[in-house]
Amino acid sequence: MNSETADIDMNDPPRLVTIETTSRCNARCVFCPNNALSRDKGSMSTELFEKIIEDCKQFPLYEIEPFLQGDPFSDPQILDRLEYIRGHLPDTRLRLYTNAYGLNERKADRLASIGLDDLTISINTLDSARYEAMMGIPLARTLANVEYLLSDRIRGQLGAQITLRMTCFDDTSLHEQDEFLRFCESRGVESSISGLYNYKGHIYSDLPVPSYGCEHVTRLDILVDGSVTLCCMDHNGEYGWGTARDLSVLELYNHQVARRYRDLHRTGRREEADPCGTCNMFWPLLDGLSPEQEALTRAEFEAYVVKNVPIGRRRPSGSATLGNLHSQQVSIGRRTVDS
Ligand SMILES: C[S@@+](CC[C@H](N)C(=O)[O-])C[C@H]1O[C@@H](n2cnc3c(N)ncnc32)[C@H](O)[C@@H]1O
Ligand code: SF4
Repeated sequence: MNSETADIDMNDPPRLVTIETTSRCNARCVFCPNNALSRDKGSMSTELFEKIIEDCKQFPLYEIEPFLQGDPFSDPQILDRLEYIRGHLPDTRLRLYTNAYGLNERKADRLASIGLDDLTISINTLDSARYEAMMGIPLARTLANVEYLLSDRIRGQLGAQITLRMTCFDDTSLHEQDEFLRFCESRGVESSISGLYNYKGHIYSDLPVPSYGCEHVTRLDILVDGSVTLCCMDHNGEYGWGTARDLSVLELYNHQVARRYRDLHRTGRREEADPCGTCNMFWPLLDGLSPEQEALTRAEFEAYVVKNVPIGRRRPSGSATLGNLHSQQVSIGRRTVDS
């Protein structure tokens, strides 16, 4: 332990650890900053991955997500890694998000034999022209993979709660949302419609910055090279601290920088935390609050949801459309090349 981490509280573990096993992605979603990362893309070494899992065995870890930027099925070793996590952290909930484009029948069979607790498939729309314009890949292959995964045999073996997720633009019609909801209902899966996050101002989104604390400060996010990033919105790891190559997961979570973020968010000072005062991530921080603070945060979150409808079926407002996100990606791409 070095001097920076000497006063670590080993009794304060993260509720969730995310590991970016790859930063590569087979899609090019116009709303996702993965298209414009300023760091090199690649996959995590086996040695580092296994070291992080070993660290996680030192405390009770509620949930683990082996992905961050990129798509897990762009990591050639993802199935081995999922199996490794299951074997070494059998009591930790294993969650995965994927666009399912790379999740073919062979991989689905193996995934089912490993088992998951939660699987979210980011399908975004069932309109094939919009899907292609939004994600840069054809819908037909994704849909075929999804249908196979949802067959009784595979989902029975997989044992996961399955959610299909739609990212809602400000021009996503109610018809498009209803088609998506009908599809989910007919297949007996959960549905989730989410508005756009602004990635600290990098992506256009009309959702305001909440005043309450953000739930992301009670997780630990580790990038491909082992460096810690503030959260999934800090896609280039600009606000991170330390690396899992040198420090344990518990040391990193209890690092003075991490604790300062938690303190600011827990004491109603989100706007003082850079870059959190510009980030519209709307899920509330409830862990570690007094009963009064928790009740207040719940009320603020409910008011935010009623006013802004960040989740669920939402009337189009027309400000962040697929078209203007396309032109924005071009400018984000330029900024990255220049930097
Ligand atoms: C960053 S992706 C990584 C996992 C995987 N590639 C996928 O598509 O599910 C995680 C989730 O974030 C969503 N996402 C990406 N950019 C977003 C944005 N600007 N606003 C809201 N959700 C976004 C994706 O659609 C996906 O559901
Ligand atoms: S407010 Fe935004 S930038 Fe800050 S921790 Fe939450 S998601 Fe990350």
